[in-house]
Amino acid sequence: MRKENIRVGYIGLSGRGCGTLGEFLDVEGVTVPAVCDKYEDRAKNGQSIVKDKTGVEPDVYLDYKELLKRDDLDAVIVPTTWITHSRIAVDAMRAGKHVGIEVGGAASVEECWQLVRTSEETGKFCMLLENCCYDRNEMALFNMIKQNLFGEIVHMEGGYQHDLREEICMGRENRHGRLFNFMHRNGELYPTHQLGPISKALSINRGNRFLTLVSMASKSRGLNEWIKQNKGEDYDLADYPFNQGDVVTTMIKCAGGETVVLTHDCSTPRAYSRKYRIQGTKGLYMEDGNRIHIEGMTVNTDEDGWMHSWEDFGLYLEKYEHPLWQKYTTEGIHGGHGGMDFLVLSAFADAVKEGGNPPIDVYDTATWMAITCLSEESIALGSHPVPVPDFTNGMWIDREPYRRGVYCLEEVCTDFFDGGEK
Ligand SMILES: NC(=O)c1ccc[n+]([C@@H]2O[C@H](COP(=O)([O-])OP(=O)(O)OC[C@H]3O[C@@H](n4cnc5c(N)ncnc54)[C@H](O)[C@@H]3O)[C@@H](O)[C@H]2O)c1
Repeated sequence: MRKENIRVGYIGLSGRGCGTLGEFLDVEGVTVPAVCDKYEDRAKNGQSIVKDKTGVEPDVYLDYKELLKRDDLDAVIVPTTWITHSRIAVDAMRAGKHVGIEVGGAASVEECWQLVRTSEETGKFCMLLENCCYDRNEMALFNMIKQNLFGEIVHMEGGYQHDLREEICMGRENRHGRLFNFMHRNGELYPTHQLGPISKALSINRGNRFLTLVSMASKSRGLNEWIKQNKGEDYDLADYPFNQGDVVTTMIKCAGGETVVLTHDCSTPRAYSRKYRIQGTKGLYMEDGNRIHIEGMTVNTDEDGWMHSWEDFGLYLEKYEHPLWQKYTTEGIHGGHGGMDFLVLSAFADAVKEGGNPPIDVYDTATWMAITCLSEESIALGSHPVPVPDFTNGMWIDREPYRRGVYCLEEVCTDFFDGGEK
């Protein structure tokens, strides 16, 4: 039976954890009675956020295993470091809690299988909190894909292209987790921001799957240059041989014949872009330039009569706005990354209330996270192709039905919105 009120613990209270905690408390029916971080100052910071917002002081834990012993929690949210998400999620499901983990890639395929097997054994779900699946553009474009405006999709691209040189290089001073990954790893370290929307558009794990990937990394220069300029030539990491290439490119082949290209690019100066590109038999969209070309629809703006011109995607956004965003803009958008954070947290809370069937399930979580360690493997092998495991164990060809609803990411469920056709 659906619960209207849920109790959720928060584990990991640095920038991201503290950023989403206050927003999560705005979701109807949510209480946070327990917070945890291994650093006491951060755990107490989380406690203050809850106290200021609700007037009630949550219990503070420095050891997440102690928090998991509580029997009054329905779920936990885990915005910890990349290499701790899975082990905390596995322990949480074994302790009888549903889990929402923040985004990041896996360090091994084994940890992805552990997530899948633990979820199947315990009946608890693990949802990757991929907020970009709920971004306004991504949802409007999903709506357009489902209305067949792009025709049959043949190719998609995306990336995490974000100048994070300061965040990475100041990792020790700021106790931040990214630095050590860039020192010691080399791969598509942060695949899911655009792979999430791409996977949903391509019906990955529901009729389609990733088959193989190939990755290639450029040399690494950006971080050393930033350190020399900002911390001085004598700083101990000034000449450190960072393993992570400045630009990592990954190509994935799908069972349905589509190709996907991902780009990881965080250590040189650049403007932010997730490089979204959707290409089908009837047209394409490109985030860079926010432009679109749909055969038979795009108004020809070229003075010479050249038929292959672009249009501004802004002209399409309103017309094809996803009904969730139509409702959201009418009722008032909540902060956090243009509003998408509140939507993914609401989707998570909705699944906890329902007791299962989250819009991003453990098979999606495992598949998207696995791209990281598989790309590391491919690069280590000289860009050798590596197979992507089928975490559904064959069920992708005949899955149980998904749960329809306002947060559904498999189809646009217009009948669930006010004024829709019930
Ligand atoms: N979805 C988004 O838009 C978005 C934005 C920023 C960050 N993130 C993700 O959120 C996560 C956290 O990011 P951040 O920038 O706050 O990272 P961070 O490294 O600053 O913080 C991680 C926190 O987890 C805590 N932690 C680690 N292991 C723990 C354990 N065993 N028990 C208790 N606490 C533990 C650390 O002490 C730290 O406070 C990362 O996965 C990051 O990729 C997502």
